[in-house]
Amino acid sequence: MGSNGFATDQKVKKAVGLAKVLALGTANPPNVVYQDTFPDYYFRITNNEHKVELKQKFKRICEKSMIKKRHFFLNEEMLKEKPNLCSFMDHSSLNTRQDIMVEEVPKLGEKAAIKALDEWGRPRSNITHLIFCTTGGVDLPGADYQIIKLLGLSPYTKRVMLYSQGCFAGGTVLRIAKDLAENNENARVLIVCSEIAAISFRGADDVHIDNLVGQAMFADGSAAAVIGADAIPGVENPYFELVSTDQLILPDSDGAIEGHLREVGLTFHLHNQVPNMIGNNIEKSLVKAFEPLGIWDWNSLFWIAHPGGRAILDRIEEKLELKPEKLRATRNVLSEYGNMSSVCVFFIMDEMRKRSVAEEKRTAGEGLEWGVLYGFGPGLTVETVVLHALPLHGVVSNEN
Ligand code: CAA
Repeated sequence: MGSNGFATDQKVKKAVGLAKVLALGTANPPNVVYQDTFPDYYFRITNNEHKVELKQKFKRICEKSMIKKRHFFLNEEMLKEKPNLCSFMDHSSLNTRQDIMVEEVPKLGEKAAIKALDEWGRPRSNITHLIFCTTGGVDLPGADYQIIKLLGLSPYTKRVMLYSQGCFAGGTVLRIAKDLAENNENARVLIVCSEIAAISFRGADDVHIDNLVGQAMFADGSAAAVIGADAIPGVENPYFELVSTDQLILPDSDGAIEGHLREVGLTFHLHNQVPNMIGNNIEKSLVKAFEPLGIWDWNSLFWIAHPGGRAILDRIEEKLELKPEKLRATRNVLSEYGNMSSVCVFFIMDEMRKRSVAEEKRTAGEGLEWGVLYGFGPGLTVETVVLHALPLHGVVSNEN
């Protein structure tokens, strides 16, 4: 026995290698809304047709968003049945929102998790840890508990529940999964991110234009990944290694992105300088992350950046003099799905590995060895994950 009374042989053994992404899955609700018709739909369903100038402004924001379409759990029929979601500030709306979020967030997460677990191929009982992440729908027991039940995972699964982190959290879950996978031999960590914008959907207001910016961008989706170190050869097929992680609060950015949960649901606040703040600080975080690897050429990396908005991606591209193809996968996810908060970076990772297979690239990272994954969100907070793309071993089904 050790001096603290615990048997010393109880000490948990660590894994040998770095944590890796072993499988991925993504999902969306079936309801699709096209951005070119969204201003008409949004102003009609929220009874704001008379606000002609505001609608014109919203049209300009939608056009400049470079989003083509988005998926939403809420459809026109549901919104007609729940008019308290359509006004700008309805103090009775939180209960309506919570009824949706508590029920649907785990279910949407389940869809992506089933795909990731099927691709991984090992028995579900081998999942040792779960990290569930969502911006809205706080409840006790939480969405982590609900998905354990939905998926039939072991009741011994060790859970981490992350509510209310916002858009940077795709990086956060990878950071935590890396620590769990590397510090516990044979750990297999299931990550599930599930985002439904019903927590913040609301009508237009003449003063709060940042609300309109959010309504033009936010969307619903879920993603799941299985993370583990020391992959079993011939059984598990790793794509990306999680090399290092960082979390940073940007200087002079207090209040730049905020969300407040009130009786009216989640209100968000987006400062118009967010793209500049991210652009002005991004190189510092790249230097910190890649100096140990001796990498200074940002065009030598593959890129997975949370597509918070078109202007953010433009500023990053300009400041770092990135070639246009560097943000191709990122911009494509923004265009096809909108801003799905924590979920987006996994859609980009998934698209990248599938395209790399289709184009017969050497690695899952567009044939390159090193890459970066960025999450940006409330604070401003930035998550940086250094990725090492592994050689491709086979075909990833496009059905997944
Ligand atoms: N607040 C209020 N108004 C804004 C605004 C803001 N943050 N950003 C843009 N606007 C207004 C402009 O004033 C302009 O109005 P007019 O047409 O009347 O002049 C209109 O929107 C269009 O703006 P621009 O003509 O300047 O066009 P743009 O090239 O800037 O494109 C945009 C507009 C697509 C919204 C772009 O500004 C953008 O991508 N911004 C980033 C949005 C952002 O903050 N994203 C972060 C989301 S939060 C997140 O991802 C994390 C999370 O945790 C929730």
